[in-house]
Amino acid sequence: MELLRFWLLCCCCCCCGADATRIPPRGRHPPAAFRESLHRHRYLNSLFSHENSTAIYGINQFSYLFPEEFKAIYLRSKPSRFPRFPAEEQTFISNISLPLRFDWRDKHVVTSVRNQQTCGGCWAFSVVSAVESAYAIKGQPLEVLSVQQVIDCSYNNYGCNGGSTLNALYWLNKTQVKVVSDSEYPFKAQNGLCHYFSCSHSGVSIKDYSAYDFSGQEDEMAKTLLTLGPLIVIVDAVSWQDYLGGIIQHHCSSGEANHAVLVTGFDKTGSTPYWIVRNSWGSAWGIDGYALVKMGGNICGIADSVSAVFV
Ligand SMILES: *[C@@H]1O[C@H](CO)[C@@H](O)[C@H](O)[C@H]1NC(C)=O
Ligand SMILES: *[C@@H]1O[C@H](CO)[C@@H](O)[C@H](O)[C@H]1NC(C)=O
Ligand SMILES: *[C@@H]1O[C@H](CO)[C@@H](O)[C@H](O)[C@H]1NC(C)=O
Repeated sequence: MELLRFWLLCCCCCCCGADATRIPPRGRHPPAAFRESLHRHRYLNSLFSHENSTAIYGINQFSYLFPEEFKAIYLRSKPSRFPRFPAEEQTFISNISLPLRFDWRDKHVVTSVRNQQTCGGCWAFSVVSAVESAYAIKGQPLEVLSVQQVIDCSYNNYGCNGGSTLNALYWLNKTQVKVVSDSEYPFKAQNGLCHYFSCSHSGVSIKDYSAYDFSGQEDEMAKTLLTLGPLIVIVDAVSWQDYLGGIIQHHCSSGEANHAVLVTGFDKTGSTPYWIVRNSWGSAWGIDGYALVKMGGNICGIADSVSAVFV
């Protein structure tokens, strides 16, 4: 009965277009995708249910999509090779001892979760949110900056059709472009022509960036987060289609990086230490738009492709 109710609800949404952001581009979907989701949830929840605070999977805004569709729309971050940490000039990581818990949100330097809708621009969302936070950590006002500008203007990427965080950082650093406020260049969820601003126009440019592979060194990664600010990471988010909450510890390979997000903090107070990860799928997804990913073990490939910006 419960399942039937869920299905009717979903079907209704799809048919009447109650919520435009949740409608897949090709309109109505057969019940097959939803039924497949229910099977998948049962499987994902069955294996490790005895464990503490393990992730829970179930019905959310993506349950009416087949995994291939979900991947084609939302997982559009292109992987790049990152050099191993530490490199020669890693002097910015001081000999700090790690606190048990740290989250940049507690310092009020993280903007609220955004929604990329059906635009494959996760790479731009993660990079822009890192710039917002780095700027606020420097003592400047916390301001929502334009993701659309990066989508339209980062010439070495493909806008809503996908992109690489490294290419975006390279472009920001090379051109010294100022990212303007979101209200001046609002998000349209589709590719557009790049709008240029005069040099005197206010905005935030970056001074430099760093990019490393921290696999096997997640404590060093945590120190980097503490020192530099929230970290841009690329994960394998295939199983995130069904995520509801809890700590992701299984069902998340480090094989294929396909989704860019922002790590804002970590928590080692409980029996399972975890990273605190800000996503760009709206605040209705996961835990108010965030996911928790187990620390250590490179779960979802979270330590493979890590970057930070300097402003
Ligand atoms: C689960 O959590 C409780 C309370 O934090 C702890 O005492 C227990 O050892 C944990 N069990 C496992 C299997 O980690
Ligand atoms: C950092 O700590 C290591 C080992 O504890 C020590 O060898 C090194 O000299 C320290 N570096 C600095 C800059 O304090
Ligand atoms: C960023 O740009 C500065 C100035 O051109 C350059 O020195 C630096 O190497 C660049 N950073 C990276 C990571 O390429």
